[in-house]
Amino acid sequence: MTATTISAIESAAPPVTLPKLLSGQKALVTGASSGIGKAVATALGQAGADVVVNYVGNAAAADAVVEDIRKSGAKAYAHQADVSSEEEVAAMFTKMMQDFGTIDILVSNAGLQQDSAFPDMTLAQWNKVLSVNLTGQFLCAREAVREFLRRGVVPSVSSAAGKIICMSSVHQQIPWGGHVNYAASKGGIKLLMESMAQELAPQRIRVNAIAPGAIRTPINTSAWQTKEAYAALMTLIPYGRIGEPEDIARAAVWLASDHSDYVVGTTLFVDGGMTLYPGFATGG
Ligand code: BGC
Repeated sequence: MTATTISAIESAAPPVTLPKLLSGQKALVTGASSGIGKAVATALGQAGADVVVNYVGNAAAADAVVEDIRKSGAKAYAHQADVSSEEEVAAMFTKMMQDFGTIDILVSNAGLQQDSAFPDMTLAQWNKVLSVNLTGQFLCAREAVREFLRRGVVPSVSSAAGKIICMSSVHQQIPWGGHVNYAASKGGIKLLMESMAQELAPQRIRVNAIAPGAIRTPINTSAWQTKEAYAALMTLIPYGRIGEPEDIARAAVWLASDHSDYVVGTTLFVDGGMTLYPGFATGG
């Protein structure tokens, strides 16, 4: 393989123009100031939705995402809230109801890693990851569902009363030593999502998840920043390139739209084949 071919493979996801599948819909994306959340919020805006850009720390970065969304003609504003705080989540939804009137799409994306060898993991590291990654999804979903149930289906907007997309990870399935808090949070999201989907489908609320593999974002720079790290990462990815945030964003637009109306309680793995046990292609 020539050097040119390698850099072509390493380049971004192929460009696509997103159709306006979400016109007239109101979306909230948590953790939307960077990484996957930023790409999802931007793509939902390009697809025609008005978007609340939730962030916890970096106001300037969230404002830049808002500016980008406005360029595509959609409404957007940034809202600071820690998704693990019941009060802050409630206040975020109150404000959204005031400004946008309702919510049609929740993308529960906020998440973090606090890695440690198991014997050294502190209770603080355990609690932080579980409270943001898992409890945060519960708190945001509960608020969204209350509004979906209050409003019901508006056929001119969507066939569903509301859509929730839980951002999970391949680590809801692949055990991950050195990251047990993170893997446990993602395993929790799997059954949180499936149980909500089962309970709420009769009310025409669609709950699904996306399980990204290795995506080029700030959460995992050590996995792709050097040539050596990138090469090691490729042994885990049959498709031969790292994922880009846009790969996830496009899946989110589809899952939020009526094009996926019969998709309920599913986890969509967007991972270049990472969950296909690549070691077994030549071993076993
Ligand atoms: C983690 C990344 C990791 C990827 C694949 C994600 O959920 O946040 O750090 O690179 O899974 O292992």
